[in-house]
Amino acid sequence: MNTDLNNMTLKKNKIKNDNISRDETLHSSNNTVAHPFLKWAGGKRQLLEKFQELYPTQLKQKKIKTFYEPFLGSGAVFFDIAQKFDIKSAYLYDINEELILTYKVVQKDVSKLLDFLYHYQKDYIKLDKKERQNFFYDQRNSYNLQRFNINYSKYSEHWFPRAAQLIFLNRTCFNGLYRVNSKGEFNSPVGDYVNPVICDEKNLLAVHKVLQIAEIKKADFKQVVTDLNEQSFIYFDPPYRPISKTASFNAYSKHAFDHNEQVELASLFRKLDQQGMLMMLSNSDPKNNDPNDNFFEEIYNGFNITRVPAKRMINSDSNKRGAINEIVVTNY
Ligand SMILES: C[S@@+](CC[C@H](N)C(=O)[O-])C[C@H]1O[C@@H](n2cnc3c(N)ncnc32)[C@H](O)[C@@H]1O
Repeated sequence: MNTDLNNMTLKKNKIKNDNISRDETLHSSNNTVAHPFLKWAGGKRQLLEKFQELYPTQLKQKKIKTFYEPFLGSGAVFFDIAQKFDIKSAYLYDINEELILTYKVVQKDVSKLLDFLYHYQKDYIKLDKKERQNFFYDQRNSYNLQRFNINYSKYSEHWFPRAAQLIFLNRTCFNGLYRVNSKGEFNSPVGDYVNPVICDEKNLLAVHKVLQIAEIKKADFKQVVTDLNEQSFIYFDPPYRPISKTASFNAYSKHAFDHNEQVELASLFRKLDQQGMLMMLSNSDPKNNDPNDNFFEEIYNGFNITRVPAKRMINSDSNKRGAINEIVVTNY
């Protein structure tokens, strides 16, 4: 499975606006620091600096060898931790099967993925605005139709174009927001980026390399209990708690994450605390809307809760992208 990219000669994509050539070769020793290759709602890239102070001391002392991230999304924390500390293995889970499919392709067959992305880049960039819209909606339709033909539980060559299509849609849709409706159809509209980088070869190669320590699986967060090791650190970043008890946040996948799941997650956190795991969990702070809302103080009673300022990045209304707090719960 593991391709050693230090020794591998790859075709180089030289992409300059609409002028693309792919005829050079490079030894991709690639010292690029890997960062998330998808833009994801609730992505934690902007909070990484603040998170440094909140990571457990044992991680900084390089005593922790195993990392778990059961709500993977774009994996901002995984990429940070895997490249800064002495992590030997990582268990990365998410319930979103499209996301997991894409990660697995990057992990196993990045050069085949790059071939598809290279063509997307070349074909899309040269189009005018109207043609880009048509191209985007054609891709979105085919992406939604094809989902019935994909076997998500069996890795195959059909996964390569699918992963490329997800990356293309993510890079060119409005706000880069991956959003599905209750039927599981991707429904973000087209964006209007002048020069979107669809084929980010350097980063994808770096991501491929970092992912070699990872076991990637489509799973519900409750499955984390079955896969635990000693000397482990777990970072939980569930979908934001809904504002009301009846609402649920389900933009990531057709599975809703409701009030009860937030409570179940808190019970799991308590159970794993008793088993000696080191854990950090983040969520949006309900006190942003209601200073008297003590939901997290109640369900995480006895643990440390820190508030960190964040920016709500993804909101179609730019006026609502102001500063808000996130909460970070730790058991250390
Ligand atoms: C807030 S996002 C994680 C963002 C991530 N930390 C990042 O930096 O991009 C929450 C993720 O949880 C996933 N998810 C939702 N319900 C889940 C469940 N029951 N089990 C596991 N993952 C779930 C979603 O698909 C989504 O990717």
